[in-house]
Amino acid sequence: MKNVRKVIFATMLIATLGFGAELLSLKANMKQTSALLKQVTQSVNDSTKNAANADNAAKMIELFKTARNQTPGVGSFSEYQSLIDQCIAEFTNLQKAFQNNDNKEALSTIQKLNQIKKEGHDKFN
Ligand code: HEM
Repeated sequence: MKNVRKVIFATMLIATLGFGAELLSLKANMKQTSALLKQVTQSVNDSTKNAANADNAAKMIELFKTARNQTPGVGSFSEYQSLIDQCIAEFTNLQKAFQNNDNKEALSTIQKLNQIKKEGHDKFN
């Protein structure tokens, strides 16, 4: 009985602390990133959303750090990781752009991300 309680407690703790992404499949991590990027793209010119969008960028960084260690099942894994790393670098630029209230830079970073996404999906999806 005590062990059951411990397991329940640990599961709740993990969920609360947000380690959930590590338990998700690559597909699920991609889907979550896509939903966040859509939200960010729709509000990229709304500077009242910059703080929220900097947080969204931080979430996408974490999702892609997890995706980096998940295998796409096809192609070269080092090439896969290198494209994922490019996305992480651009998500970091996106976070900084919002922190600096540079919405023009944020928009051009999103355009770069969409190009890397296309290349990644052409090769690995
Ligand atoms: C902004 C960047 C990206 C976004 C928003 C994105 C989004 C998505 C979405 C929505 C899916 C489809 C999930 C489904 O089937 O419903 C997907 C799948 C996939 N993506 Fe991405 N992606 C991005 C970048 C990349 C990059 C750079 C790579 C490779 C280096 C990549 C590799 C894959 C793979 C392998 C799948 C198939 C996963 C599976 O079904 O198991 N993605 N992505």
